Amino acid sequence: MYEFNREEYEKRVRWFTEARFGMFIHWGIYAVPGRGEWVKSQEKIPDEVYDRYFEEFDPDMYDPKKWAKLAKKAGMKYAVLTTKHHDGFCLFDSAFTDYKATNTKAGRDLVREYVDAFRAEGLKIGFYYSLLDWHHPDYPHMTDRHHPMRGNPDYPDEGRNFDRYLDYLHNQVRELCTNYGKIDIIWFDFSYADMRGEKWRATELVNMVRELQPGILIDNRLEGSGSEQGSLMTGDPLPYHGDFACPEQIIPPRGLVDAKGKDVVWEACVTMNNHWGYCRTDGYFKPASMVIKKLVECVSKGGNLLLNVGPDARGRIPDESVKILKEVGRWMERNSESVYGCGKSTLPKPDYGRLTQRDGNTLYIHVFDNTVGPLPVIGVKQEDILSARDLATGTELRAKGGWMCSDYPDTAFITLGENPVLPDPDDTVIRLKLRKE
Ligand code: GLC
Repeated sequence: MYEFNREEYEKRVRWFTEARFGMFIHWGIYAVPGRGEWVKSQEKIPDEVYDRYFEEFDPDMYDPKKWAKLAKKAGMKYAVLTTKHHDGFCLFDSAFTDYKATNTKAGRDLVREYVDAFRAEGLKIGFYYSLLDWHHPDYPHMTDRHHPMRGNPDYPDEGRNFDRYLDYLHNQVRELCTNYGKIDIIWFDFSYADMRGEKWRATELVNMVRELQPGILIDNRLEGSGSEQGSLMTGDPLPYHGDFACPEQIIPPRGLVDAKGKDVVWEACVTMNNHWGYCRTDGYFKPASMVIKKLVECVSKGGNLLLNVGPDARGRIPDESVKILKEVGRWMERNSESVYGCGKSTLPKPDYGRLTQRDGNTLYIHVFDNTVGPLPVIGVKQEDILSARDLATGTELRAKGGWMCSDYPDTAFITLGENPVLPDPDDTVIRLKLRKE
């Protein structure tokens, strides 16, 4: 029986809070219509019509080794793949359904290849698994809030046996936790209305998962969703609590702190454009410079960024995403030291950028906007600076101001040089070694 123990918990989440950056992958047969992963619900598509996508699905360009290399190059340390999304289609070879990749033109277990490829790159492995299921006959249809057949009297719920669905869910989670070696994260999605907690037989499920995969991290959506962070926030987690909160499409304005004042482990999941699953007409991608700044923002608030890609029906990550990830990788190659293993700073956020901190005496100043004259480090005194370096090149920066700083004797200043253009227009990072602590 699983019981919350703060010390063990903190050990368990350590790799995760050090990793800081992961890849979310939303992929399934919804890539065929290419209108996002909710298409079946949004357009109220009946099974007979949606079945076409199952029959057509033929990801001849699926090459997870390429995905894994891309993630690694971008500086990501882990990945989470949708093994089953809300439409119920399974990318893995489950013994409990025929609705799986094995029975499509792909003809094989696509999760297995993902696991092998990402593991080979040294990345940690996450499985997303949808609690909702719009294919299973025992999941509520007419009376459900999200089901494609909601409100449709032709799909009444009498005779549907929800417990049978739960057996199916538990069985599939058992398969995922048994057949692929060590899994690092299981990412359940999501709870809503009265569909939460013990409605999923959550304690039983968590006990099974933790027994099969000691050390695994579980997200918080057996009791929450993208906006309700569950009992982790109370400081007294329930038996089926999540190991981390997962705010969706938002970076918490002040990070997350529980009711007892302790920092909460969190991961913001964010799309690159405006959809999780592949969407052909959505070209509104976040530029790399924004992704870099948002990753830094997460770290500066004590959180992770799980950045999504939505591969297309043939199994390719969209070119736009590839390009952005490569640019992020270029920045990470030089500056990842200010991300991995870093967190909140004890100093206030400067108006020219953000701070991340490794320990009491290593501070990273992320300069987004150049300053006029020397750069002030509020809260640090000049004599406390042991060294200041441009992180990207390792070059010394002079930790001193000039005559114009003399009105601010309590504030340290760093001189970046005479060029008003920052060496890295996205984020120039300065590493400060401090005397104190
Ligand atoms: C959701 C959505 C979903 C997406 C997920 C990612 O709650 O239903 O489509 O997979 O969040 O966080």
